[in-house]
Amino acid sequence: MKQDMLVILDLGCKENTTIARAIRALGVYSEIYPHDITLEQLKALPNVKGIIVSGGPNHVVDGEIISVRDEIYGCGIPVLAVDHAQAKCERKLDAWPEDEAEIQTMLRPFVFDVCKAEANWNMPNFIADQIELVRRQVGNKKVLLALSGGVDSSVVAALLLKAIGDQLVCVHVNHGLLRKGEPEQVVDVFRRQLNANLIYVDASERFLTKLEHVADPEQKRKIIGAEFIRVFEEEARKLEGIDFLAQGTIYPDIVESGTKTAKMVKSHHNVGGLPEDLQFELVEPLKQLFKDEVRACGVEVGLPDGMVYRQPFPGPGLGVRCLGAITRDRLEAVRESDAILREEFQKAGLDRKVWQYFTIIPDFRSVGVRDNARCFDYPVIIRAVNTVDAMTATVEELDWPILHQITRRILNEVPGVNRVCYDLSPKPTATIEWE
Ligand code: XMP
Repeated sequence: MKQDMLVILDLGCKENTTIARAIRALGVYSEIYPHDITLEQLKALPNVKGIIVSGGPNHVVDGEIISVRDEIYGCGIPVLAVDHAQAKCERKLDAWPEDEAEIQTMLRPFVFDVCKAEANWNMPNFIADQIELVRRQVGNKKVLLALSGGVDSSVVAALLLKAIGDQLVCVHVNHGLLRKGEPEQVVDVFRRQLNANLIYVDASERFLTKLEHVADPEQKRKIIGAEFIRVFEEEARKLEGIDFLAQGTIYPDIVESGTKTAKMVKSHHNVGGLPEDLQFELVEPLKQLFKDEVRACGVEVGLPDGMVYRQPFPGPGLGVRCLGAITRDRLEAVRESDAILREEFQKAGLDRKVWQYFTIIPDFRSVGVRDNARCFDYPVIIRAVNTVDAMTATVEELDWPILHQITRRILNEVPGVNRVCYDLSPKPTATIEWE
């Protein structure tokens, strides 16, 4: 393994991810582990040069103070304790500064002088390590990949193609909740341009039937996630000899699905919804990367820019943008309005500027007037946000002319819609998606 690593033990400190990012920004790899990791587990990790134990108000969970195991201190690896009473560590600090740059400055002497870590965390080394790890994990077995065509799964596909070539079987499932033109594009790019072993399955009807009358967002996610895995299992059975399932899980998915010390925000289907009878072992080479790092990885493994810089798209797709129980008319309306929004953003050069932009259709109607008669139709909500890592987000300040142009087109071209709104809410308090 090429890279040194600093380990952050998770006592619920809200700065944990910022600390991890700050260490990586210093050129040293870092990962966050549960606070109760054993010394044996810690020693099994490659090249750990230092440990950060960070307390804060959340290290009281359900009335109990949680702490790291005593054996971690004095194990020979330097420990930095912040806001956490512990006498036996190498360095102590009372609190973290507010911004990431200051955190970075503060960490520098610990990382380099105390831990003597080498600044050897970079994409080529990360990729070389992941290739080695994947080859070690997989051997000569076959891996099935859920290739949605989004940034994460595309980067996984390209990385795995480098690691194991034709042992990788990509399956693109059209769950009926994809954007306009998307399945066609995935087939074109991966089969024709990247020469991947790709199976295309149109399972739209099957998904939409399962989702009929299901209004609860978490339930919808679980159904979509579970059905996804079932489709893959069926494909695997047809193929024979598939032992592994690759997934584009990234770090924010894991953090937001809840750790021992962080409350769950919402379950992301690639973490929370796996059925219990799952027969595959998982391969998740991006699970420690933040979104911006995933893109850098994509560039490094040679994916076309259009794919790497494309906006993220959630696994459950338009299913969580067609609010409440999905109906086919509203699903088509969300698909059409999203296509209009994307086209107008591209024309205006906003597609490379805005991090994520899409439309939402709620499950209620409002009164309007069309051709001098009363109409009772659905609204379309526009969402356009900027963020670095999807943990917080701000709203793009769109100019009126483009908002008017998009509104005009949606009202003229999308049947069943009589109103367009722009969502001004940042995250928090809103999340990026509406469900
Ligand atoms: P939220 O809505 O949680 O979204 O602020 C943060 C980012 O995650 C995406 N997202 C998902 N991705 N499965 C995914 O793979 C999901 O269930 C899911 N829910 C949200 C969202 O689009 C945004 O980029």
